[in-house]
Amino acid sequence: MYLGLDLGTSGVKAMLIDSGQKIVGSASAALDVSRPHPGWSEQDPADWIRAAEEAINGLKETHAQALAAVRGIGLSGQMHGATLLDEKDAVLRPCILWNDTRSFREAAALDSDPQFRALTGNIVFPGFTAPKLAWVRENEPEAFAKVQWVLLPKDYLRLWLTGEHMSEMSDSAGTSWLDTGKRKWSENLLAATHLDERQMPTLVEGTDGAGTLRQELAARWGMGSGVVVAGGAGDNAASACGMGTVAEGQAFVSLGTSGVLFAANASYLPNPESAVHAFCHALPNTWHQMGVILSATDALNWHSSITGRSAADLTNELGDSLKAPGSVTFLPYLSGERTPHNDAAIRGVFAGLGHESSRAVLTQAVLEGVSFAIRDSLEALRAAGTRLTRVTAIGGGSRSRYWLKSIATALNLPVDLPADGDFGAAFGAARLGLIAATGADPVAVCTAPETAETIAPEASLVPAYEDAYRRYRRLYPAIKEATM
Ligand code: XUL
Repeated sequence: MYLGLDLGTSGVKAMLIDSGQKIVGSASAALDVSRPHPGWSEQDPADWIRAAEEAINGLKETHAQALAAVRGIGLSGQMHGATLLDEKDAVLRPCILWNDTRSFREAAALDSDPQFRALTGNIVFPGFTAPKLAWVRENEPEAFAKVQWVLLPKDYLRLWLTGEHMSEMSDSAGTSWLDTGKRKWSENLLAATHLDERQMPTLVEGTDGAGTLRQELAARWGMGSGVVVAGGAGDNAASACGMGTVAEGQAFVSLGTSGVLFAANASYLPNPESAVHAFCHALPNTWHQMGVILSATDALNWHSSITGRSAADLTNELGDSLKAPGSVTFLPYLSGERTPHNDAAIRGVFAGLGHESSRAVLTQAVLEGVSFAIRDSLEALRAAGTRLTRVTAIGGGSRSRYWLKSIATALNLPVDLPADGDFGAAFGAARLGLIAATGADPVAVCTAPETAETIAPEASLVPAYEDAYRRYRRLYPAIKEATM
């Protein structure tokens, strides 16, 4: 048996798979995000441990025997978070998360130093880890002076699980300190933020072992000794392992809290100018590109919170047949935006409201706005040399048939839906646990699921979507000028 643990933004998911990769069971526990100031987004790392224990205990209640048979654990997690520890491994302040944009000034300053883009292959986005440390140094110097370790969220779970300070390439590529082409920490980039390699975890590949489960936890969960904890992956690379998106030409669109258009690459293909992310993949000698939008289901959840209707009720109200975009346009920049604007200060907007703009009209505009934001990512990937002929959809948002049709039509690409099953980050993490524990060939393990159905673009609506996308594109500079 193998256990995948995915530390998401809204919860921890634990999944058990057997040696044939069949899902045996899964359990989750919820997490909250604290937003003490506009643009801030934090979590207490102690809550991650609490949620991970709760999820694993959930599995223990329903699948005690299978849990006891676990030989390998894989970790996946929300990327970029800055978890700061002192010399005794005590947490110095709440973790500053991936969608926290307070460090936009520090990010711009680091980004203006050419060695960051040259070595990391990426813009220094405010959500990345290095500018967060620059912000802490400036605003909380006492905490900064005590920083002995900087860990990414899932690597803090690893510390709890194994006692080791270790990380792997895919998540570390999102720190702005990794030499992404060479797959190693850059002393120069660390020095530019007043840190050095001794404060960073040891790096392995995601498929390698990175620690052994502590005896105390193994005993608590009924497991034997020597349970291997794999390097694992950032949540997007972990999802890619779950989806079998590991070779050139393969791509997925993920509709989670954030939205991601992810393409696997056989070589390192940076193009920071298009605001595309170029990161290491979890598999050795493999890289990937992705466009990231900060609010995907988060935009629908916001709409749900202000209308008092569940996200499912809102999307059901639209029915299943796609409509042409109307006069209302929504920009989903509730937390600012990464691809393609790299703009932490911009905020969302509904444009074109009229007396006839019902709740359903607004829901339609929200879904279309996210689809157009994903289209922006497709254009960014194209500018970075990647040609896609189809994408597979995953994530909570892919439960809405309307949204899938809207995305297929906005991208003008067929969208594949995997056969029933859960091929997300927890599954990918479990696969990495299996590979690390058995030495199996990563490419042979990370296969793609069967396609249950393909959602084709709605040909008759492609021109109307294209017009609406042009309108959407014109709004960003106008709103920026009007509100800045
Ligand atoms: C990727 C990113 C998000 C988080 C969400 O760069 O910031 O997708 O990983 O968990």
